[in-house]
Amino acid sequence: MVSILDTTLREGEQTPGVCFDAHIKLAIAGLLSDVGVDVIEGGHPAVTEEIRGALTLLASRGLRPRIGAHARSMERDVDLALECGVQFLGVFYCVTDERLRDHQQSLPAAIDRIARVVRYARERRPDLVIRYTPEDAVRSPFDNVVAAASEAVRAGADVISVADTTGYLIPGTPRSMYDFVSRLREALASRDLAPKIAVHCHNDRGLALANALDGYRAGARIIDATVLGLGERAGLVDLATLMAVLAHDFGEGAGWDLTRLPELYALVARYAGIAVPEHFPVTGRNAFTHCAGIHTQAATKNPLHYQSLPAELVGRTSTIALDHMSGVSSVRHCLSLIGVDGGGGLAEEVLRRVKEVGQSGRTVDLVELGYIVRSIQDHPLAAAGRT
Ligand code: COA
Ligand code: ZN
Repeated sequence: MVSILDTTLREGEQTPGVCFDAHIKLAIAGLLSDVGVDVIEGGHPAVTEEIRGALTLLASRGLRPRIGAHARSMERDVDLALECGVQFLGVFYCVTDERLRDHQQSLPAAIDRIARVVRYARERRPDLVIRYTPEDAVRSPFDNVVAAASEAVRAGADVISVADTTGYLIPGTPRSMYDFVSRLREALASRDLAPKIAVHCHNDRGLALANALDGYRAGARIIDATVLGLGERAGLVDLATLMAVLAHDFGEGAGWDLTRLPELYALVARYAGIAVPEHFPVTGRNAFTHCAGIHTQAATKNPLHYQSLPAELVGRTSTIALDHMSGVSSVRHCLSLIGVDGGGGLAEEVLRRVKEVGQSGRTVDLVELGYIVRSIQDHPLAAAGRT
């Protein structure tokens, strides 16, 4: 069974300009809990006093998901996180040769530091779930990652996160998350170590979700995501799409309620000031809307002719949009929704007018459809003269 770690409140706030008030964070966390995520990463306490305050509130709420904090590899950051009362701690430190040179650290010194900090957290909170992330793991020398991960686990880390910090991986190539997770699990197992593997996939190449699923297929059992895919640069894996695919196509989802996703997305979009793109998978306005006449003619009989995900899974319904791409079946269907019989040439005349409106760049909703019907019924001769 996979666990979902939502980091909208931590990584999501690394989207330029995004900052949620504490009461909004609580509301978002409540919906994340209802949807069924396992961990809510609520922030990095070292960043601001407000983040510490919000994390403390979140952690005291007794929500079902564990509340997590981010910490650099230093005791001070761990202390701040533990003071907030979190149940999950993510410690990160790079292991690439170039970055270590920047930090003026040798690899052994870096590994000592990571192990020391993880042990420090473990000693203070035996029931804490601790994750160690070798930042930019997938572009780091593999042996460095294995060495650091091994010592972190020996020091008390429960989870090793494979961070594709720059969205570098490509499925089906030697640079894949599938290969990386498989090799890492094998290398750790050969040292009698079996931490849970998490994947943190950025979307710089538009492949975050594909890479996350690749990691899952290789045995990763924690996947990071954010609402709307918010995060640094091009962001992260989109939570709703990830959960819908895992539930529908991989048999995951015991205890999930994906029908709460639309409410969650509306809330986050509003307070992030970033609208859900209309064509976004799963939560976008058009995600379950059929437009072209040939599609709607089939979809009115069975939406799954032109959908591979059921709208109801995620609290949506399939709909039809009327514009210049419509056919007479689309119009007849929509007329039936407003209780109008399209016989006697009415549907054809309505279609002609719907196409006129559509060409001006608008769709016709059911209210406007009623106006069109009324205008034809009020002026039947004008309509007849045109045919
Ligand atoms: N472990 C330990 N130290 C780390 C580290 C890690 N994983 N990653 C970076 N650092 C150090 C850097 O070396 C640098 O310290 P130095 O100036 O002594 O070399 C410092 O952390 C970061 O630089 P800077 O941001 O200039 O320091 P700051 O003290 O002004 O602020 C933060 C530190 C964390 C409060 C600030 O950067 C911040 O608010 N960041 C937002 C959260 C963030 O960066 N998240 C990244 C998640 S991957
Ligand atoms: Zn990230």
